[in-house]
Amino acid sequence: MTVREILKMGDQRLLRVAKPVEHFDSDEVHLLVSDMFDTMHAANGAGLAAPQIGVDLQLVIFGTGAANVRYPDAPPIPRTVLLNPVITPIGAVEEDDWEGCLSVPGLRAVVPRWASIRYQGFDQYGDAIDRTVDGFHARVVQHECDHLIGKLYPMRVRDFTRFGFTEVLFPGLDANSDD
Ligand code: NI
Repeated sequence: MTVREILKMGDQRLLRVAKPVEHFDSDEVHLLVSDMFDTMHAANGAGLAAPQIGVDLQLVIFGTGAANVRYPDAPPIPRTVLLNPVITPIGAVEEDDWEGCLSVPGLRAVVPRWASIRYQGFDQYGDAIDRTVDGFHARVVQHECDHLIGKLYPMRVRDFTRFGFTEVLFPGLDANSDD
């Protein structure tokens, strides 16, 4: 049960292509997942990828309750641990919406993402996950899995007139959060 340091943009470890997890249901994986949830909850995040705490593995977690202060209007996403993910877009429709990132504190931007995706992978026990989702759920998965290929959301921004400081863009939204 440890809150780990979240690496910030500029750290070269955020730019690596992460390695696949080779051994599921191991003490190492369970400890990592536990630390990642502690770290995500401490930062009021909707998701976290292992590279954000300096761990070079294809492992992301995400999920929101009704009370996420960073995304108060978003529909709930089930608490998920996803290893070795593969994302397949469903159709060619993109959607624009605002994103932030715990590795890019204090900023938000409008980022284009696939509106609908299928994602596949495994949970920490090695059980298969295969879901088709859209909207905010699809956005969060794409954002987190981007961390596994060294992509931070500013690299996806097309319209830099919609990129700025959270406190300026959304006054009052993040009074309880660092980001
Ligand atoms: Ni992020």
